[in-house]
Amino acid sequence: MTEAAATAEALPVSPVEVAPEHDLFAKFDALIAEREALMATGVRDPFAIVMDEVKSPTQAIIKGKETILLGTYNYMGMTFDPDVIAAGKAALDTFGAGTTGSRVLNGTYSPHKDCEDALKEFYGTEHAMVFSTGYQANLGIISTIAGKGEYIILDADSHASIYDGCALGNAEVVRFRHNSVEDLDKRLGRLPKEPGKLVVLEGVYSMLGDIAPLPEMVAVAKKHGAMVLVDEAHGMGFFGPNGRGVYEEQGVADDVDFVVGTFSKSVGTVGGFCVSNHPKFDVMRLVCRPYVFTASLPPSVVATAATSIRKLMHAGEKRAHLWRNSRRLHGGLKDMGYTLGTDTPQSAIIAVILKDQTQAVALWQSLLEGGLYVNMARPPATPAGTYLLRCSLCAEHSAEQVETILAMFQAAGHAVGALA
Ligand SMILES: Cc1ncc(COP(=O)(O)O)c(C=O)c1O
Repeated sequence: MTEAAATAEALPVSPVEVAPEHDLFAKFDALIAEREALMATGVRDPFAIVMDEVKSPTQAIIKGKETILLGTYNYMGMTFDPDVIAAGKAALDTFGAGTTGSRVLNGTYSPHKDCEDALKEFYGTEHAMVFSTGYQANLGIISTIAGKGEYIILDADSHASIYDGCALGNAEVVRFRHNSVEDLDKRLGRLPKEPGKLVVLEGVYSMLGDIAPLPEMVAVAKKHGAMVLVDEAHGMGFFGPNGRGVYEEQGVADDVDFVVGTFSKSVGTVGGFCVSNHPKFDVMRLVCRPYVFTASLPPSVVATAATSIRKLMHAGEKRAHLWRNSRRLHGGLKDMGYTLGTDTPQSAIIAVILKDQTQAVALWQSLLEGGLYVNMARPPATPAGTYLLRCSLCAEHSAEQVETILAMFQAAGHAVGALA
């Protein structure tokens, strides 16, 4: 033990006394009680899993057990790609561990520009801006583009980062019913004509794995004079001939003003971005606070991202395999009698909907004990009252692994009473 650690251990650790009526933590009491009641039943905490060793995009050791990973966003399996890893190591050696600065000061290194070039090549756009996370890309772009007296119109099931982007800015916020073209039209129709409007959509909605009817939605937005932003976090890599996302697959690229995405899913590392052909887009680098007032990504991260993005341009075979996996898993689970988030396989996400939290945690734990990790999801991440296990497939899952996964779901479902 170091001298500092010994001193720290000797310090008193009793909490500061606060009167209950002044305790700012009192508002969390209901949540704490709910969690404690659940843990008291003896289940493992679905939100405290530790990966002790990660052997490949589809396999890890969790608590000493060889486990198949079916709950990562590693859709294209790029985390262990040898070229991606080599690019990261080379940048680490050449540029060091981090930039210690904002993109607008000392934090733009040549790998950041190269990464933005890779995005421009991938998306075929004039402009690309890299943020430190996808969360920050939404936070920054949404809060900055739509200002006071203007409107943001968003799907009720939007990701937290979209809601938080609205909360950070000063625009009026209007929600429409999830994936309802009619409701979007109605709500846009009620707004005054003159102010600027931004309609925010997602290609794939990540909790249920359903996709947006973008041609209809974009047409309605344009009819009302709104600009359109599509978040392709879960669509990048395997939708569309070039893997750009659902907006490419559905043929609306010419009418989408901004595409936001992340490096934390198909790209296989961390970071976020926005691409656009808007001629004035680069002014964002001066006015977008979540871009300006934070440190830029380490050069090794943007170098891995750039290499991965360029490889994803030529990943047609991987895309096809991922779709085969998605169809097989969806069909197999449906045939067993599980209720799924979508009637047909629409993306690499297959959501298994359970009766309540107790059943969801029981199935989650039984699968984990059998050697399968999936995501447990609950409100507020999911729509109200919805408890689900989210399965996200990877292009590196073999056909045999998918059969093993199905057998695990069958056994666990019967063991916990989720299947009749
Ligand atoms: C739709 C959507 N947008 C943005 C993000 C944020 O991405 P990141 O993990 O890079 O912050 C996520 C993350 O899950 C997401 O699902």
